[in-house]
Amino acid sequence: MDALETILAYHDRSKHHPHRYAAGPSGLDWPNQPDPFRRFDGAPLVRLPLPRQDDTPPYELIYRPGAILPASLTLESLSRFWECSLALSAWKAYGDSRWSLRINPSSGNLHPTEGYLVLGDEVPEVEGPAVYHYAPGEHALEKRCPFSRKTWRILMSPFPAGAFLIGLSSIHWREAWKYGERAFRYCQHDVGHALGALRVAAGLLGWQLSVLEELSDRQVTSLLGLDRRADFAEAEPEEPDLIAVVCPAAEGAVVPRRLPAEVLPVVAGSEWAGRANPLSAKAVKWEAIDLAARATAKPATTVAPCRFPGTRPAPPAAPTPTGGPTSREIIVQRRSGTAYDGRTGMSAGAFYRMLGRLVPRAEKRGLPWDCICWSPRIHLLLFVHLIEPLTPGLYALVRDGEQAGRLREALKENFAWTSPPGCPDQLPLYKLREMDCRRTARQLSLGQDIAGSGAFSLAMVADFDGSLRESGAWFYRRLFWEAGLIGQVLYLEAEAAGLRGTGIGAYFDDKVHETFGLVDRRFQSLYHFTVGGPIEDPRLTTQPPYPAANG
Ligand SMILES: Cc1cc2nc3c(=O)[nH]c(=O)nc-3n(C[C@H](O)[C@H](O)[C@H](O)COP(=O)(O)O)c2cc1C
Repeated sequence: MDALETILAYHDRSKHHPHRYAAGPSGLDWPNQPDPFRRFDGAPLVRLPLPRQDDTPPYELIYRPGAILPASLTLESLSRFWECSLALSAWKAYGDSRWSLRINPSSGNLHPTEGYLVLGDEVPEVEGPAVYHYAPGEHALEKRCPFSRKTWRILMSPFPAGAFLIGLSSIHWREAWKYGERAFRYCQHDVGHALGALRVAAGLLGWQLSVLEELSDRQVTSLLGLDRRADFAEAEPEEPDLIAVVCPAAEGAVVPRRLPAEVLPVVAGSEWAGRANPLSAKAVKWEAIDLAARATAKPATTVAPCRFPGTRPAPPAAPTPTGGPTSREIIVQRRSGTAYDGRTGMSAGAFYRMLGRLVPRAEKRGLPWDCICWSPRIHLLLFVHLIEPLTPGLYALVRDGEQAGRLREALKENFAWTSPPGCPDQLPLYKLREMDCRRTARQLSLGQDIAGSGAFSLAMVADFDGSLRESGAWFYRRLFWEAGLIGQVLYLEAEAAGLRGTGIGAYFDDKVHETFGLVDRRFQSLYHFTVGGPIEDPRLTTQPPYPAANG
């Protein structure tokens, strides 16, 4: 089987059906539960002091290109960047159990995604240049590999002064422990969420962030030291995801989405410190995941350079919001709703505003869509329950207007395709069919109430077959990343609207397709989401993410 056939076969076998769920473990092996914290024992630890005051801009401002003056790169801004992206957000306790939550969500709270930083010598307290691993439990950096200033200069020569790199990798085992074969999909969603969290954290500091889309997975592996056999001897491996450049001062720069390849072996050949901790006592293999990972390994590719907008703030189009929550407040309060009240709805105006955030604008893509380089491949099929004054029913949001025809052709012929009342012209939202779809939404999500008891829920359908045939099997992961980015925006937008959101990875794939009339692989549903008025669980207590001494 070639790579494309392999990933299509994986996609089919990892679907849930009412009569057969995707293969998973027969029960949860609690003693073998993976440690949520990867550490590199022996690597020097650099603690990031938590900023004492919340000086972050209003949440509403982060979506306005050029509205936030870039913060200079200091220990404090670097700490803020991680605090608002991959750090812990709280500890929860119930009876004898205690578990941490993070700024970025993760299927089953299992957190397969690891963060890396490659930093120069701009921050004296951190003493670069070096490759660091971010340790969320400590809010600290583990210094894996110092290297020379000369190597740093060559590595960063394509980028504006002050730029640094971040990296993401995934430990598939963390998700596979609970979800078996479907876990590979969830790991990719989580990459999308983590990338979205990082883009937003960069944005609130006025920084640009762009994924270096030309790099091969082999190059990502090499820079992050993921193939260092001796360091991972007993430990579960990390799969390369991405490297992105963060530019605190981009000055309208045009930069390539690659690194000077010749310098990567120099970093890889430098001296590395630390050995990865084993996360579980015994290794369990999920062959289908290994095959999917291999089939979707990314080769080096060529894409257009990235054009950062000018950093000088343009005069704001609308008055600058002064009140309202800060971006940090919204980011740290984000949680997944575990139950919704079935009563709280939202106004059509708020709904349209929220959906508007999910549609990249053509010339200025805006945050977070500016961190990826491909055109939108994911559209939304919505189950509207409680949006005043919209009629409940099935709706569609076409995120790339040029594809409206193709999507329409693939969906049921007798759908209405009418514009809902008061819908702004630039929002490509359509009513497909009036119906009470609460029960349908619930049933499609494996009977999960959360899909039917919010204001609305939705399926993210990808332009699937065409995207994979055009770009190659490796693009499979990107489709899930894009879905994760949509989910991340929805999580924050739900909080900003006084509601709550939940990502839904568990649904009956082909039943969803049937509901909308999708009969082939042109479009496939990759992720679901729900937004509504949450019911809190009063049994849980909440504790701060870090001891006060960290602040
Ligand atoms: C990819 C993904 C899939 C998820 N699927 C479900 C789901 O099917 N049902 C559910 O109740 N929660 C689901 N969640 C929510 C997670 O359980 C939640 O993010 C995790 O417990 C961490 O809690 P937090 O989001 O409040 O930090 C999903 C989250 C993600 C990111």
